[in-house]
Amino acid sequence: MNRQEKERYLREYSILKSQGKPFFPYAVAKDSIMACITIFSIVMMSLVLGAELGPKADPTTTTYVPRPEWYFFFLFELLRVIKPAALVPLATIGIPTICMILLFLLPFYDRNPERRPERRPIATAAGVFTIIAIAYLTYLGAVAGSPTAIEMEPPAAVIAEGRETVEMFEEGKQVVAQSGCLGCHKIGENGNDGPGPPLTDIGKRLPRQAIARTLINPTSPMPAFTEVPPDQFDAMVEFLARLRGTSVNE
Ligand code: HEC
Repeated sequence: MNRQEKERYLREYSILKSQGKPFFPYAVAKDSIMACITIFSIVMMSLVLGAELGPKADPTTTTYVPRPEWYFFFLFELLRVIKPAALVPLATIGIPTICMILLFLLPFYDRNPERRPERRPIATAAGVFTIIAIAYLTYLGAVAGSPTAIEMEPPAAVIAEGRETVEMFEEGKQVVAQSGCLGCHKIGENGNDGPGPPLTDIGKRLPRQAIARTLINPTSPMPAFTEVPPDQFDAMVEFLARLRGTSVNE
């Protein structure tokens, strides 16, 4: 703002101030009335429309998928994107806190009087980037598969072999989904991409015996799965050996 602009602004301000009304009671009264109307509307809506109740909580369920409300999907996804355990506090506390502090201090570090977005390239770019990043993370969070289920139909080759093979495939899928493999491996649309490799095409990369060996004698940090009952273990190996990449869903 140059001197001329500043003087003009001060002149206008003093005119307005001399004709103006004091904050108390005029502005205060307006605000209070609006606040009362808002509260009254909310109370009326809760009385008339009520709030929707979900199904009763079931403490015995093992298939419950904890998911945040959609407006927290971006935070939820941020946590999934940042893998190393040491960095998890950074994702959950660090980044949101840094963003809040930056926002809070905005009037102190951004003293640019310019108001047109195109004349403030850094502020505009930062704002647009934030919106795009949150939108993208929200989208990823919305389409993320469940961490305790594998949404995958038996491939045609399995169906062709008859009911027993399909049942074995389904059982193996269930065992894998509930054994915590998805915490480290991605299978189809479910699970985390790392620290282990994706298993969507593991049947193409490793023979059956090698898959079984990996489960009994894995490389750290993968835990050994020697406690699994033999029939469930076989089903798990059968399921994994049938994973042949994208053709699984054809
Ligand atoms: C704590 C994380 C973790 C868990 C849980 C885990 N894995 Fe792994 N898995 C790994 C890592 C890391 C590797 C890669 C090891 C290496 O570098 O050889 C791996 C490798 C594998 C491989 C060999 C992949 C290849 O391309 O050679 C298979 C198969 C496998 N895991 C299956 C499973 C199954 C099935 C489960 C669940 C029953 C499971 N994993 C649970 C971390 C894990």
